[in-house]
Amino acid sequence: MHQTIATFSAVLLLTGLGLVTAQGNGGPGGGAGMMGRTAGNNTNPLCGTTANAPSVNHTIQGGVRYFQSNGCPPTNWTDHNYPAPNGMTYGQARSYNFPVIVNQTPVLQANISDALYVGISNPVKGPIGITLTGVALYSAVDALNRDAIIYEGRTFDTCGGHSTPDPVNTYHYHSMPGDSSTISHNGTRNSNFTYCPAMQSWLLPVNTTNNHSALFGVFVDGVPIYGPLGDGGKLPTDLDACNGHVDASHSFYHYHATSDYPYLVDCLRGCINSTLSYIQGATIPACKPAAQQYNYSSLDAEITARLEHVGVINGTMVNGTVVNGTMVLL
Ligand SMILES: *[C@@H]1O[C@H](CO)[C@@H](O)[C@H](O)[C@H]1NC(C)=O
Ligand SMILES: *[C@@H]1O[C@H](CO)[C@@H](O)[C@H](O)[C@H]1NC(C)=O
Ligand SMILES: *[C@@H]1O[C@H](CO)[C@@H](O)[C@H](O)[C@H]1NC(C)=O
Ligand SMILES: *[C@@H]1O[C@H](CO)[C@@H](O)[C@H](O)[C@H]1NC(C)=O
Ligand SMILES: *[C@@H]1O[C@H](CO)[C@@H](O)[C@H](O)[C@H]1NC(C)=O
Ligand SMILES: *[C@@H]1O[C@H](CO)[C@@H](O)[C@H](O)[C@H]1NC(C)=O
Ligand SMILES: *[C@@H]1O[C@H](CO)[C@@H](O)[C@H](O)[C@H]1NC(C)=O
Ligand SMILES: *[C@@H]1O[C@H](CO)[C@@H](O)[C@H](O)[C@H]1NC(C)=O
Ligand SMILES: *[C@@H]1O[C@H](CO)[C@@H](O)[C@H](O)[C@H]1NC(C)=O
Ligand SMILES: *[C@@H]1O[C@H](CO)[C@@H](O)[C@H](O)[C@H]1NC(C)=O
Ligand SMILES: *[C@@H]1O[C@H](CO)[C@@H](O)[C@H](O)[C@H]1NC(C)=O
Ligand SMILES: *[C@@H]1O[C@H](CO)[C@@H](O)[C@H](O)[C@H]1NC(C)=O
Repeated sequence: MHQTIATFSAVLLLTGLGLVTAQGNGGPGGGAGMMGRTAGNNTNPLCGTTANAPSVNHTIQGGVRYFQSNGCPPTNWTDHNYPAPNGMTYGQARSYNFPVIVNQTPVLQANISDALYVGISNPVKGPIGITLTGVALYSAVDALNRDAIIYEGRTFDTCGGHSTPDPVNTYHYHSMPGDSSTISHNGTRNSNFTYCPAMQSWLLPVNTTNNHSALFGVFVDGVPIYGPLGDGGKLPTDLDACNGHVDASHSFYHYHATSDYPYLVDCLRGCINSTLSYIQGATIPACKPAAQQYNYSSLDAEITARLEHVGVINGTMVNGTVVNGTMVLL
């Protein structure tokens, strides 16, 4: 038993070293005085364990969408079911400066083979996206490039996340946020998700009857991700290799979380603007955009609506979009 735990700690120790960060001045909220990730022992403040632990700002300026977060989950991250090995500050979630900066309008690659693969076929570690509550989204791989749910899933807390041990302490999801029993899916594709009570209202659509799942995050290609259900509240049957598709109620390319691999995304279909966000260890594919692109004009309002749904925004509404808003989760 102890041997097994030690193996897990070694694996987890390596998973959090990638980061998404602004190049240059970091955009709104990214100036001097922000907490950075530190090498060695992380002395950043521990995250709170209640719903108001996150601080997330969402801003749109000049065609660029900024998320700026302290990386903390809106739930009790100490509520995990794995023991701390002796001498390790294991599984502590600490705040850090977490910006995700993308072009406001995603631009899709013409050919899916030009997408950035992030899963087992081309492992990318560290943050590749952000939830609307400001938590990092990771790919499906662990430090040894294996299925992170199979090999680490039992370390997830009851809201489906975990944090990398000291020194990085990045709280993150490899699969559907809030899923209180990720491993219960046993590698099958189904809609039997049980969300932790603290996150239910943030993850479910306002009207849950036969409805498409709600938007819960955005990846570094600017493409949003929704919960597991597509049109009519049914599981999508036409997801591509990245885990994305277009459906009737959301007529632009978007991702869905799934109960089986890749859980979130296996590749990022949109072009990644590496001058805005950096993904450690990834070679960003050149952008060879499709001639026909999707109309994402409703996305700002949808993100704003979901942000308002999960918390409180004090910002200025410009054409239906919150600009310079600060979200404080209730
Ligand atoms: C972290 O702190 C522990 C306990 O103070 C110490 O033993 C260890 O050497 C430190 N590690 C680093 C990388 O500074
Ligand atoms: C969000 O913006 C507010 C007001 O500008 C600022 O005080 C806060 O530090 C920002 N939060 C983050 C995580 O950047
Ligand atoms: C968080 O979870 C831990 C472990 O279950 C518990 O001891 C603690 O009281 C919880 N904290 C809050 C604020 O609910
Ligand atoms: C997409 O890329 C693959 C691999 O490079 C190539 O074989 C295929 O012909 C391309 N498809 C199109 C439609 O360009
Ligand atoms: C899922 O896996 C667990 C652990 O191996 C097992 O106990 C359980 O019976 C499985 N459930 C299903 C529905 O296969
Ligand atoms: C759904 O998942 C829960 C655990 O999250 C499990 O107890 C239940 O048996 C599952 N139901 C089905 C039909 O698989
Ligand atoms: C759910 O259904 C209602 C009514 O059809 C619709 O207005 C709403 O946008 C749907 N989606 C969500 C996420 O609530
Ligand atoms: C909820 O959404 C479903 C599917 O979109 C729709 O049929 C139903 O009328 C909606 N209910 C309400 C109260 O809006
Ligand atoms: C990246 O974003 C910047 C800022 O919006 C923009 O000027 C630049 O054209 C973008 N580059 C690509 C390749 O889209
Ligand atoms: C948001 O606005 C309300 C009402 O004006 C105010 O009480 C609250 O302090 C503001 N919160 C932030 C984080 O600015
Ligand atoms: C708001 O929308 C109008 C009409 O589409 C446009 O002319 C105007 O420039 C927009 N304002 C801003 C600040 O984006
Ligand atoms: C948002 O903040 C920027 C930079 O501080 C400022 O130039 C801009 O006017 C603000 N926009 C609104 C709508 O408040």
